[in-house]
Amino acid sequence: MQFSQYLFQGDRPIKTTIRNYTENDFEQLIQIQKECFPPPFPSDLWWTEDQLSNHIRLFPEGAICAEIGEEMAGSITTLIVNHQGEDHTWEEITGDGSISTHDPNGNALYVVDISVRPKYRKTGIGKLLMQALFHLVVELKLDSVLGGSRMPGYEKVKDQLSPNEYLESIMEGTRKDPVVSFLMKAGRTPVKLLPNYLDDPESANYGVLMEWKNPFLEKSK
Ligand SMILES: CC(C)(COP(=O)(O)OP(=O)(O)OC[C@H]1O[C@@H](n2cnc3c(N)ncnc32)[C@H](O)[C@@H]1OP(=O)(O)O)[C@@H](O)C(=O)NCCC(=O)NCCS
Repeated sequence: MQFSQYLFQGDRPIKTTIRNYTENDFEQLIQIQKECFPPPFPSDLWWTEDQLSNHIRLFPEGAICAEIGEEMAGSITTLIVNHQGEDHTWEEITGDGSISTHDPNGNALYVVDISVRPKYRKTGIGKLLMQALFHLVVELKLDSVLGGSRMPGYEKVKDQLSPNEYLESIMEGTRKDPVVSFLMKAGRTPVKLLPNYLDDPESANYGVLMEWKNPFLEKSK
C-alpha cells in the first residue's frame, strides 16, 4: 500500500505519505514509541528490532507508517486473527507484540499498536492510518478491524467511576478519553470492556474492544 495526500497543521498543508514500513524505518519507529509511551507506561512494551522484523516478515501488508518528508510521523501495526469477540489480553492475541499468532486464514484484522509522534498529533494522521486499515480489510475481504483500546483517562477518575460508567460517559459525550474518543472519531465502535488487557496503569489495565465492520462483506464474498 502506498498513497500520499495533504493534511493541515493549522492552515499549513503537509503532504503525508502512507506506506508499508521496512527495516530502514526501525530506528525512527522505536524513537516514536519512546515519545508516545512515556512512564508510567512500561518501557519493556516499546517495540524491539526483533518484534519489528517479525511484523514485516509475517504480515508486511499490515505494517503501515505515515511519513512527512523524510521524517516518520507515526505507525499502525496489525495481524490477522480468528476472533469472535472472546475476552483476551493484548499479550495473548498479539503474541506479546511479536505477531507470532498471525493467522492468514483468520477473519479479523487486529490492531497491535497505533502511535503518532506528539509534534504531529491532531492533524489527522491517526485517522489516516486507521483509514488505511479499512482499505486493507475491504481488500482482504475480512469481517472487521478489531483491537483493544487503552483508556488512559480512567486512572484520574477511577475512585469515582466504575470502568463501565467511565466508558458510558465517553460514549454519551460527557467525557473525553485521549484514545477511546480518538478511535470513535476515527470510525471504530466500542464493543465491551476487556479486564486485565494490558499492563497499563493509566487505564487501570483495562482495554475497550473496538471494531469497524467491513460494509462490503456480503457483496464481496
Ligand atoms: C491516539 C493517537 C494515535 C491519536 O493520533 P492523532 O494523529 O493525534 O489523531 P487525529 O489527528 O487523526 O485525530 C482524529 C480525531 O480524534 C480527535 N482526537 C485526537 N486526539 C484526541 C485526544 N487526546 N482527546 C480527544 N480527541 C482526540 C481529534 O481531535 C480528531 O477529531 P476530529 O475528527 O473531530 O478532527 C495519538 O494521540 C497517540 O499516538 N497517542 C499515544 C499512543 C497511544 O496511546 N496509542 C493508542 C494505543 S491503543
